[in-house]
Amino acid sequence: MQKNLLTVENLHASVDGKEILKGINLNVKPGEVHVLMGPNGAGKSTLANVLMGDPRYTVDKGKIYFEGNDITNEKTDVRARKGMFLSFQSPEEISGISVENFLRTAKSAYTGRDMQILAFRRELKSKMQDLDMDESYASRYLNVGFSGGEKKKSEILQLSVLNPKLAILDETDSGLDVDAVKVISKNILKYKNDSNSLIIITHITRILQDLSVDYVHVLADGAIAKTSDASLVEKISHYGFASVIK
Ligand SMILES: Nc1ncnc2c1ncn2[C@@H]1O[C@H](COP(=O)(O)OP(=O)(O)O)[C@@H](O)[C@H]1O
Ligand SMILES: [Mg+2]
Repeated sequence: MQKNLLTVENLHASVDGKEILKGINLNVKPGEVHVLMGPNGAGKSTLANVLMGDPRYTVDKGKIYFEGNDITNEKTDVRARKGMFLSFQSPEEISGISVENFLRTAKSAYTGRDMQILAFRRELKSKMQDLDMDESYASRYLNVGFSGGEKKKSEILQLSVLNPKLAILDETDSGLDVDAVKVISKNILKYKNDSNSLIIITHITRILQDLSVDYVHVLADGAIAKTSDASLVEKISHYGFASVIK
C-alpha cells in the first residue's frame, strides 16, 4: 500500500483559548486531490493555516505527519522546505521585495541550490506567460497594489515555480473573473501529477471540472462531517450543506 504524504490525527487547535478545530483526521496520499468544502466559519482556513504551522494557532491535541515525519511542532519555513505550500485566501502585500526576488529566494531556499539569475528569469517569464501575467509584474513589489485576481495569480505563480509535493489552495478561485478562473485551473492542472497532491478549499466547482477529485470532505464546526467521492460536490451545489451535515 502506498504511504501517506500527509497524515492528520485527531487535530485540535485553538486561537486565544477558543477551540476551532475539534478533532480532524485526514490522510492524503501522493497524487491525490482532496477538496475541502463547508460553510463560512467552519474552520477551513484555520486547518490550512495550522497545517502550515501558523504561529497564531495553538495545537492542543493531535499530530501532523508529512512523509511519515512528525511536523506538528515544526516552524512554517521547515514545512515549506519539506514540500508543503499554502496559497492564502487573502495574500499579503509585501513592500520592498519584488516578485522576482521573492520567488528566486524562495526557490533557492526550497531546493537548497542558488538559482542563476538569467536562467531563473527565463523560467519565470514562461510561467508568467502561462498565467497571462504581464512580465512587468516580475519587478513590482510582491502583491503591492495587485488586484484580488492578480494576487491569486501571483500565488499560483509561486506554486508553479516551487513545485511543492503538497499544495493547499485556500479559495484561490474566489473573486476571479471567468477567464482568470480558466487560466488558474489550467495551471493547477499543469502542477498536478502522480506524485504531487492537492488540498483544494473552494466554494466554486469550475476549478474542479478538469481535475480528477479523489475525496470531498465537508467541514462543519471544526470537524469533518462527511467524506465522499467527487459526486458530493454536485450534491452540495444543488441541495446545500444542510443536506450533508446532520
Ligand atoms: N486568527 C484568528 N483570530 C480569531 N478568530 C479566528 C482566527 N482565525 C479563525 N478564527 C475564527 O475561527 C472560525 C473559523 O474561521 P475560518 O477557519 O477562517 O473559517 P472558514 O475558512 O471555514 O470560513 C471563525 O469563527 C473565525 O472567526
Ligand atoms: Mg476561509
